[in-house]
Amino acid sequence: TYVVTDNCIKCKYMDCVEVCPVDCFYEGENMLVIHPDECIDCGVCEPECPAEAIKPDTEPSLETWLKLNADYARSWPNITQKKDAPSDAKDWDGVAGKLEAHFS
Ligand code: SF4
Ligand code: F3S
Repeated sequence: TYVVTDNCIKCKYMDCVEVCPVDCFYEGENMLVIHPDECIDCGVCEPECPAEAIKPDTEPSLETWLKLNADYARSWPNITQKKDAPSDAKDWDGVAGKLEAHFS
C-alpha cells in the first residue's frame, strides 16, 4: 500500500484524490489518509502530491504512518473529489514536527 505522511498535514493539496482509480482517500481536518486495504498499489498518486507526502510502505520507518493511515481511514469520510487546498498550504510545506503540533 501507499501511505500519506507528515508533510500532508496542513498542506492538504488533494491532487492525489483526482488520480486515485479506486477512491481510497479519506479526509481529516488537516490531512488525508489512504485505506491500506483498498489501495491497489498503482503508485499514480505519489508523483502528483506537490508536498511529496505520499510514499510506498516499502520505505523504512513508516510504521507510525501506516498505522495512522489504517486507523483514520476507518473513521474519516471518503473523499472522491478534489477541493481547494488551504490558502496557507505553501507556508506549511516542509515545516518539521507537524504531527506533534497540528494533527487532529
Ligand atoms: Fe490510490 Fe494508487 Fe495511490 Fe493507492 S497508489 S492511493 S490506489 S492512486
Ligand atoms: Fe496531502 Fe499531497 Fe494529497 S499534500 S492531500 S497527500 S496531494
